[in-house]
Amino acid sequence: MRISVAIDGPAGAGKSTIAKLVGKEFNLMYINTGAMYRAVALKSKENNLSPKDIDKICDLISSMEMHFENDDLILNNENIQDEITLPEISSIVSSYASIAEVRSKLVKLQRDMSNKFDVIMDGRDIGTVVLKNASFKFFLTATPEERANRRYKELKDRNIECSYDEILKDIKSRDYKDTHRDIDPLRKAHDAIEIDTTGLNISEVTEKINSYIRQKL
Ligand code: DC
Repeated sequence: MRISVAIDGPAGAGKSTIAKLVGKEFNLMYINTGAMYRAVALKSKENNLSPKDIDKICDLISSMEMHFENDDLILNNENIQDEITLPEISSIVSSYASIAEVRSKLVKLQRDMSNKFDVIMDGRDIGTVVLKNASFKFFLTATPEERANRRYKELKDRNIECSYDEILKDIKSRDYKDTHRDIDPLRKAHDAIEIDTTGLNISEVTEKINSYIRQKL
């Protein structure tokens, strides 16, 4: 039987860092679903498509071949991981991620991947929608201030100019949009284990998840 691990939570809760490490430990393919929504936002922006151009965005998605290599998103043979994590994409992605047609297309791609491989998938709706029957579900949280601080440090380490206040504002605005949108809003699945990562370091959170999975495998 295939193993699938769902990790949900708000922006900056540490999902992707933790998911990569847990994935390595149990030999799971890491699927970063946020990266897939970001790729749609990036390509829509490049093609001057606003979130209202739903039919054109759907056509665009049909021409996008997405897969993951070494945890990075490869779009039509190009590694776009650095581009999609820039602040200008972070600030527009929620508007594209709230389009029902976009969600159903990407959810289908995500389920196809989980049928082919043992996966660890992170996002907002993995435990509630994409992988309702996941073998393991976790919900990571942290205060907005801690999450903004992590993003700020991450961008600074990449020498990307940014302001902490702007990042905090963006995180709060994305939290609101992600939890209040009509379709598949961010919420904890009833059977997910919640971990508040505030004040915990990466290895502490990873070990909590690893030991939980180890116990049940
Ligand atoms: O995790 P992230 O910040 O890279 O996600 C980018 C955006 O995509 C974020 O605004 C929420 C949205 N998203 C979503 O709606 N559903 C997912 N499964 C993953 C991300």
